[in-house]
Amino acid sequence: MSAPNSFVHLTDGTLSVVLRVGEGMPEVAHWGAPIATVHLDPRLFERGVPDGGLDLDPPHALVMEPAAGGFAAPGVVAHRADGRSIYPRFTSVDFDQTSAAASFSLVDSHAAIRLTLSVGITDGGVATFDATLTNTGTDDLTVEALRLTLPVPEQARELLTVGGRWTNEFGQTRTPWVDTCLTVENRRGKTGHERLGAIFAGTSGFGESHGEVWGVHIGWSGNFELRADAVSDARRSIQVGELLTAGEISLAPGESYSAPRAYAAWSGAGLNGVSQRFHRFLRARPNHPTTPRPVIMNTWEAVYFDHHLDRLKELATRGAAIGIERYVLDDGWFHARRHDRAGLGDWWVDPKVWPDGLHPLIEHVRGLGMEFGLWVEPEMVNPDSDLYRAHPEWTLHDHAYPLVLARNQLALDLGRPEVRDYLFDHLDALLRDHDISYLKWDMNRDLAAPTTSTGRGGVHAQTLGVYELIDRLRGAHPTVEIESCASGGGRFDFGILERTDRVWTSDSIDALDRQVIQRGFSLLAPPELMGCHIGAPVAHTTHRHLPLSMRAASAFFGHLGVEWNLLSLTDEELAAMARIIVLHKEHRALLHGGVAWRYDHPDPRLIAHGVVATDGSSALVSITRLASGPSLHTAPLRIWGLDPTRRYTVQLLDLAPPANGGHRRTDSRHYGAARRQPDWVTGRISATGEQLAVLGIVPPIMHAASGAIILISAAD
Ligand code: DGJ
Repeated sequence: MSAPNSFVHLTDGTLSVVLRVGEGMPEVAHWGAPIATVHLDPRLFERGVPDGGLDLDPPHALVMEPAAGGFAAPGVVAHRADGRSIYPRFTSVDFDQTSAAASFSLVDSHAAIRLTLSVGITDGGVATFDATLTNTGTDDLTVEALRLTLPVPEQARELLTVGGRWTNEFGQTRTPWVDTCLTVENRRGKTGHERLGAIFAGTSGFGESHGEVWGVHIGWSGNFELRADAVSDARRSIQVGELLTAGEISLAPGESYSAPRAYAAWSGAGLNGVSQRFHRFLRARPNHPTTPRPVIMNTWEAVYFDHHLDRLKELATRGAAIGIERYVLDDGWFHARRHDRAGLGDWWVDPKVWPDGLHPLIEHVRGLGMEFGLWVEPEMVNPDSDLYRAHPEWTLHDHAYPLVLARNQLALDLGRPEVRDYLFDHLDALLRDHDISYLKWDMNRDLAAPTTSTGRGGVHAQTLGVYELIDRLRGAHPTVEIESCASGGGRFDFGILERTDRVWTSDSIDALDRQVIQRGFSLLAPPELMGCHIGAPVAHTTHRHLPLSMRAASAFFGHLGVEWNLLSLTDEELAAMARIIVLHKEHRALLHGGVAWRYDHPDPRLIAHGVVATDGSSALVSITRLASGPSLHTAPLRIWGLDPTRRYTVQLLDLAPPANGGHRRTDSRHYGAARRQPDWVTGRISATGEQLAVLGIVPPIMHAASGAIILISAAD
């Protein structure tokens, strides 16, 4: 179809994307609130031309063209070998449109490039944006950036960005968005702990369930850049693209470069609305896990590198007895891996520790009715390994400089097909020779100066190489599930989630830290993808002591696991663990299939979230008191998401009765220092969904660092 001077309106009834299509580059005229009328008068979007600027009103183009007068960051940054810069102005456009998608093919014959763009609305009300640039010239084209520009209205006055560090991922930061440009840049060579590839822009003070919010995410596990730019011409935008290093992408004639996909979700009812759309979108993808998420036990914090068959078998026996369904043998099983200084790259079972291979353990685990999972870290190599000694040139760093190690390891160059083949062959052999149904795929270093042996920046090829390797393995072993781990939550994005089944959210299993970490995680992904383990009473990464009830309450909503030396538990603790696991399984369909909500509360030391069944028949709500509040009393918690017209029974779910000497649930001191708890705490209460949303429920009087779970069931 050739382009008329008109609008393309994509909508699924919950979101509208309106593209203005003329003789060249399309412009996103609107994305956000659904608009029922498809036909729009172009004059709705027209602005005048004030004095003091260019003699035209430049378009707010999907791929910004400086040559058309736009001053936001250019959509295409590229140059030819002779130094000619490209300032494209696409003058010819073809487009195709269905109800939920539009694609454009644009040509700049002067610059000798072609750009294809696709915009779609997916199941779940999330818009996707794709761009591919092709060199149609006769000499090489170096591409430095390909950015998409998604405008947001001037009403968006506050930004939410997400980030942190190892063992403290996904913290949330609010920034007023005045006349500034805020950039979220990631140069870690993987998604990274530091910055999540997402920006949420909203009306001032937007909350979990109020305000208008626009969320943009880049589905890419390498370097990226998101810019929230308030240009002085009363237009704001979020720009998204891969962060490329100089010379990283060089296109020979006929070659193409595709930008990572950008995802956009809007809500008129706060952040929850945006997250729920992202969750619905992920749940609708064909690779999203649909079977009940097996309760996991992971050996890492139980034994670390100290592998002994008898002990590992005994752990499995204990695990099976408390209801564990999947046993994961973590780091330490392969050649020379007695510590973190050696072995990575040598992906065969260490005969010294495992003289009969992994088979005796796997048979034991399978005999107990559990699945067996194995830890791997394929992208890495220790200099002290047979692989490195044979192929030092396979690593991703500039060989002219001293090695920069992280955890004593280097990254392999997965841009090289022979490296991918080596890894595929070893992992494939492990999966063929053993009854393994799960891989915990770890990645424990940032890529500092990631240079290939040809001297080029290697993160783009590395990221695609990792994707290709995982896809190839999944193709060969379609029933094997894969966990994405990068020292905890260092690789979490829609790109890796297209090919993995779970994320190890954080190496911190500290239940209080986890409340904040998991809340940030939930901005993008639903609970069933969030690995949550119950750890030892003293958290290994923070040394904080927390009771089992608190540790269990924090882990309960996600993909549950246990990472605690079960051989050290008393009978009472084992019985409590067994009960928690029974309860989790009982509520698993709700927890992993319902609609996830984060709740606002006036006291920031109180964190609450929940899951409501899609038919509104039940809900589970978690309340955690992180620290003591300013008042002896706690304000009611308003619980959203239930059917306002239905009547519900509300009661506490007693996860882990305290060990001997502690207070029972029927004791008013069970949750906190109280002469008397609200009556419903030891009994139940009846309320309509409307009452719960408007009046809320008075939380128990709670100690600092304690958690409670509320079970809400329709009374009809
Ligand atoms: C980092 C991971 O996040 C941990 O869970 C554990 O698997 C270690 N690596 C093992 O080396």
